[in-house]
Amino acid sequence: MAAQPAPEPQLPPAPPPFTDPGQAAEFVRQFHREQPAAGDPGPRLLAVREEIDRTGSYHHTPAELAYGAKLAWRNAARCIGRLYWRSLVVRDLRHLSDPDDIAAECFEHLRLAGNGGRIRPVVSVFAPDRPGRPAPRILNQQLVRYAGHRVDGAVVGDPAGAELAELARGLGWKCAEDRFEVLPLLLQEGPQERPRWYGLPDDTTLEVPLSHPEHAWFAELGLRWYAVPAISDMTLEIGGVRYPTAPFNGWYMGTEIGARNLADADRYDMLGTVAEGLGLDTSSERTLWRDRALVELNLAVLHSFQEAGVTIADHHTESARFLKHVAQEQRLGRPTPADWSWIVPPVSGGLTPVYHRYYDPVDPEQRPAFLAREAW
Ligand code: ARG
Repeated sequence: MAAQPAPEPQLPPAPPPFTDPGQAAEFVRQFHREQPAAGDPGPRLLAVREEIDRTGSYHHTPAELAYGAKLAWRNAARCIGRLYWRSLVVRDLRHLSDPDDIAAECFEHLRLAGNGGRIRPVVSVFAPDRPGRPAPRILNQQLVRYAGHRVDGAVVGDPAGAELAELARGLGWKCAEDRFEVLPLLLQEGPQERPRWYGLPDDTTLEVPLSHPEHAWFAELGLRWYAVPAISDMTLEIGGVRYPTAPFNGWYMGTEIGARNLADADRYDMLGTVAEGLGLDTSSERTLWRDRALVELNLAVLHSFQEAGVTIADHHTESARFLKHVAQEQRLGRPTPADWSWIVPPVSGGLTPVYHRYYDPVDPEQRPAFLAREAW
């Protein structure tokens, strides 16, 4: 009887590479398809595959990074402001991973984006997560946001900024306990590191004091809001590479401030105060005092930003722009997935054209994308 051949020694299966080669290839193909000047994708596909096999991940070219970030904006199903996706200013700061440098460039981001009031959409892309080396994280939800302080049961300031304010205080930040106090930037270098805090220099935080075009008393409420909404807690994912530190901003639509930040019961909760100033009858819901106060508050926001020379959009104009974007994309043969419940403004929904239709379904797997950032 012939001897059985010795069984092959069983090697454990190789772990999957850090960056998914399939996602990388899909992005490279899309980039070359939409940017014909980039030419034939063949050589780049081979080079990316080779770099992933050798190192577990790969580096985007500056052009890939810039276009990938724009695509992430174009794919943002909750954003009504996507008509201008091509105009995004992409700052390539991938060489930076030291918290001091990141903080300094976040401040520069705010200066560039604020631009003296002519708000520019900007994204600053810092070092990505690399095999065995996670990138540092910004702990703030936005680069500029107001602190909340718990004072016997109630919150002074923005309840949405209470948790971060507490964390910052624990690290040695001294707060004045004002209603509109800008939080420091909190950066964490690794899961085990102690976060570091950085106070925002005055010239980074453009703010608008709120007044009403007809009611002088409104200004005495002392309300204000900042000019640049810069989201800093989302991961930018392009072709399988994750950039967890990539703060980005557009300009405000008035309702974000007037119908949510200052109006929501779990935020600044100002409708009662505004109704009182207007002398409205608040004894019954049927007087629509909330609705009337809400409209005047939103008018004050738009009026004040305009007076201050700071870019802001009203919800009628921004809705029309969004439908222009949808139509433009359709002409290019591309769908525009959109989340109706986020696109329709929180006041006067039915008055805006975005209300009266449905949108292409949202695909959670679509990339490039800005994603909710996972824990360390
Ligand atoms: N809704 C958030 C806020 O009120 C900002 C979200 C991003 N908004 C924007 N216009 N890009 O602060």
